[in-house]
Amino acid sequence: MIRLDKYLSDSGLFSRREASRLIRAGAVTVDGSPCRDPARKIDEGAASVTANGQPVGYARVRWFMLHKPADTVSTTEESPKSVMNLFPPELRRIGLFPCGRLDLDTTGLLLFTNDGPAAHDLLSPKKHCEKRYRFTCPPLSDEQIRRLEGGIALSDFTAKPCRVALDDPLADREHGTITVTEGKYHQIKRMFEAVGSEILALSRVEFAGIPLDPALAPGEWRELTPEEIALLHQNHTANGEE
Ligand code: URA
Repeated sequence: MIRLDKYLSDSGLFSRREASRLIRAGAVTVDGSPCRDPARKIDEGAASVTANGQPVGYARVRWFMLHKPADTVSTTEESPKSVMNLFPPELRRIGLFPCGRLDLDTTGLLLFTNDGPAAHDLLSPKKHCEKRYRFTCPPLSDEQIRRLEGGIALSDFTAKPCRVALDDPLADREHGTITVTEGKYHQIKRMFEAVGSEILALSRVEFAGIPLDPALAPGEWRELTPEEIALLHQNHTANGEE
């Protein structure tokens, strides 16, 4: 048994607040009768619920992190290389999709959810959600770092300012991390090319404040903890619009 407002928000169609508002407005029925009480307990397996006249099936919102291996494609389309093949069939049936994309050869943190509105919010460029990548490249000069960090002009857009940190600026200028707030196609590779450098290896290590779990080997996944999910929601609502 769960609360009616939770049933609606678990469906992934409404936020908890929207669910509450719809219920109080009389737009929700349970087993054919209007119900205006968001706290009403219903049997999620048996109740028949509608919102705005449309049936709402129960689908608990789920979030997962995958350590994406190289040579896999961030797509829900049937393909031998799809990242979806790394999940068992019962999870592929609950409407999971990758939250954004990593290139074929990029490894690291990829989030999955069946919560469409939350994923859409997280990926919105207006939310400035931070993504951190580890890179390997030819030795990077201070001038190249300055240009990358300042917001580099690419052919179709100008990247926002970002942060670059070399692992060891004195001894190793080939490895480091770059933190960006956008997620355009091939963005990091194109930014490095624009300063006369080249990405030799790229791996995402953090997304919206959630680090890749070091216990996950490439190809392995786990469900996000309630704390991580709370952090995601905090990050996608806190990082305000422009
Ligand atoms: N930037 C890229 O160039 N590739 C990725 O996979 C992610 C960010």
